[in-house]
Amino acid sequence: MVTQFIFLGLSNSQGLQIFLFIFFFVSYVGIVFGNLLIVITVACDSHLHSPMYFLLANLSLIDLCLSSVTAPKMIADFFSKCKVISFKGCLAQIFLLHFFGGSELVILIAMAFDRYVAICKPLRYSAIMCGNVCVGIVASTWGSGFLHAVSQLAFAVNLPFCGPNKVDTFYCDLPRVIKLSCTDAYRLDTMVITNSGVLTVCSFILLIISYTIILVTIQHRPSGRSSKALSTLSAHIRVVLLFFGPSIFIYAWPFPIKSLDKFLAVFCSVVTPLLNPIIYTLRNKDMKTAMKRLRKWNVNFRVKS
Ligand SMILES: *[C@@H]1O[C@H](CO)[C@@H](O)[C@H](O)[C@H]1NC(C)=O
Repeated sequence: MVTQFIFLGLSNSQGLQIFLFIFFFVSYVGIVFGNLLIVITVACDSHLHSPMYFLLANLSLIDLCLSSVTAPKMIADFFSKCKVISFKGCLAQIFLLHFFGGSELVILIAMAFDRYVAICKPLRYSAIMCGNVCVGIVASTWGSGFLHAVSQLAFAVNLPFCGPNKVDTFYCDLPRVIKLSCTDAYRLDTMVITNSGVLTVCSFILLIISYTIILVTIQHRPSGRSSKALSTLSAHIRVVLLFFGPSIFIYAWPFPIKSLDKFLAVFCSVVTPLLNPIIYTLRNKDMKTAMKRLRKWNVNFRVKS
């Protein structure tokens, strides 16, 4: 009976350890700071109270949570000889990873839908995306992430583990943990590929199609009006690629390559959540002015009190 798992971590070399530790520590601080800044800016600035920015703030919150499932434990584990996680802790990581990951997948689709309505049906935008609809979309985003996570957990709870308990990475997730279970690994792999794999691939195709339609629509516009829409869209598309590129390789690629696998896991848990706020804030004028306003307001507030 296996009651705990042992992570082998990212690397054994001492010099590399220190470098990686600093890299991940600084990145995680950046993730917390950047994503919280977006959530707070959108919440405080009434100019940004529109569906697009509500969705963006929700995406930031999800990114923050997603990276908090794996990154803090990895950072805390860096210099410990034996990186242990209990069986329950491992299940919790699987559940939360799929909860936030599933929610992120759906919110990216919701953001594409929002842009589709805004650009292809501009006259009906405020009627279609009214307050209740936006709240409903966000609620169903979190809801479907939850349902997906429950299905993955129900599957993982019943896996029998009797043999080795060393996981050659820094967090628990199904494709890794399944390899240690003492039932037919081939059948289990198929289950992961048909569930998370098909979900990611189908959503990705759906997103590619929607952004293609939106881009084609923009092409037929006078150039002055389309440049702002184009810069927003390019940010969305970059975020979609950053999220789906690694996920498709992790869940839907049937021939995992060990070293690449670890790199992609790092990408998902640290690089994507760090880049998302950068992509959205650096290129977005409204977001930047809102942050300036927030700072001014903050300074005034401090001077007065
Ligand atoms: C998420 O979206 C909902 C619905 O629009 C909004 O009310 C809420 O403030 C958003 N959450 C965050 C953290 O911004």
